[in-house]
Amino acid sequence: MTKKADIGVTGLAVMGRNLARNLARRGHTVALHNRSESRTRELIEQFGDEGDFAPAYSAREFVDALERPRKLVVMVKAGGPTDAVIEEFAPLLDEGDVIVDAGNAHFADTRRREAALRERGLHFVGTGVSGGEEGALHGPSIMPGGSAESYESLGPLLESIAAHVDGEPCCTHIGADGAGHFVKMVHNGIEYSDMQLIAESYDLLRGALGYEPAQIADVFRTWNAGRLESYLIEITAEVLGHTDAATGRPFVDVVADEAEQKGTGRWTVQIGLDLGEPITGIAEATFARSLSGHADLRSAAHGLAGPTRAPLSGADAERFADDVEQALYASKVVAYAQGFNQILAGAAEYGWDIDLGKVAAIWRGGCIIRARFLDDIRAAYADEADLPTLLTSGGFRKAVEDAQDSWRSVVQTAVRLGIPTPGFSTALAYYDALRADRLPAALVQGQRDFFGAHTYRRVDSGGVFHTEWAADGRPEHPA
Ligand code: 6PG
Repeated sequence: MTKKADIGVTGLAVMGRNLARNLARRGHTVALHNRSESRTRELIEQFGDEGDFAPAYSAREFVDALERPRKLVVMVKAGGPTDAVIEEFAPLLDEGDVIVDAGNAHFADTRRREAALRERGLHFVGTGVSGGEEGALHGPSIMPGGSAESYESLGPLLESIAAHVDGEPCCTHIGADGAGHFVKMVHNGIEYSDMQLIAESYDLLRGALGYEPAQIADVFRTWNAGRLESYLIEITAEVLGHTDAATGRPFVDVVADEAEQKGTGRWTVQIGLDLGEPITGIAEATFARSLSGHADLRSAAHGLAGPTRAPLSGADAERFADDVEQALYASKVVAYAQGFNQILAGAAEYGWDIDLGKVAAIWRGGCIIRARFLDDIRAAYADEADLPTLLTSGGFRKAVEDAQDSWRSVVQTAVRLGIPTPGFSTALAYYDALRADRLPAALVQGQRDFFGAHTYRRVDSGGVFHTEWAADGRPEHPA
């Protein structure tokens, strides 16, 4: 009797193949399946010696190779293909078996699938997997949702292949049904925001100081030795330091300046709008990608008036790179504060019990936004579980306070030189709005009541009011 497989992977493109290899390397017996048999055979031929694989060439053979409760990881394109694979396997499974969707599925699809499969006695676990192909092979950050019962048998397997930081796996049960994919979606939204802030920092150092990419790479290497240490800062230094082999020019200068996006950042913004969560950093980062792609509009606008871009000099230039580091750090705190509050809003909306400290802890390694910074976030939530925003937590509050002058100076310089910094600017605007005594929203309420009788509340009494704007004396009265 051959040993049954601990877990199976169907869908052996690079991510699925690397997850299967990672599982086998960790000593698990892994059943393999792919729609086209050749991918299964290729994996065995190339990597069969890495561990104990059980190749299967039909759905039935794949299911029969798995020990109970069966755990099938589906790694196919999000949307229709995932539904198709679920329907191919679900009828072959028994009560208590677990289907795991490790793709970037939309959390609403995951909630739908989890409810439908629960009706059929099956567990459906949508899990975020972050870290790209390398992460899948060497240790990603893993964000599973689904039932607590499914995590009992699935969790130890996922934790064994996840990245580890201080001996702790970058994997935890995030919450029920779609919670895992929701948190992965927000991870990607924060990723967009972080990448945009880094890109703006590069643009500022180039536009305001006249630095060449190689010089800016050195600045990022210096920053990566300090509080901004992160995977994204590290790879930015690599990208900016790279010379294009074909032309001998700085690589960044031969890349078309039109950013693309597969969609998870867009989802984060759409859900933020639905939840009423002002995730302005993620929104501006997503819109910045969209704007960069409007080539015709940009060329039509190319001649529009703007300031002459004279590089800074003297003391201003001496100080500017440090000012940008401060502005980047402060804007990053805002962006992460917004992202974590979106997770809280999602948890409240969908009835999930999500521990933000644990989310920060599993993002310390393996994922694209992995950074020393996340340790500070984990500590902030450990100190104050019901923290209203990261901005009011001790360490971050002081750091952002200390960054004030630099942050404002950098945004002013950007405006003066005509360098677009939507990320830095929206972060500062969010910060100032959040801490303001009074917001001009009072006037907006007055306008709404004037043209649409939409009513307003007052600062001096409870209830809802309307003003008879067309009448003499314009009497106000409870609506
Ligand atoms: C990750 C990444 C990944 C992302 C791709 C493409 O966590 O490993 O976030 O999931 O989808 O890198 O992202 P965009 O095309 O949306 O930039």
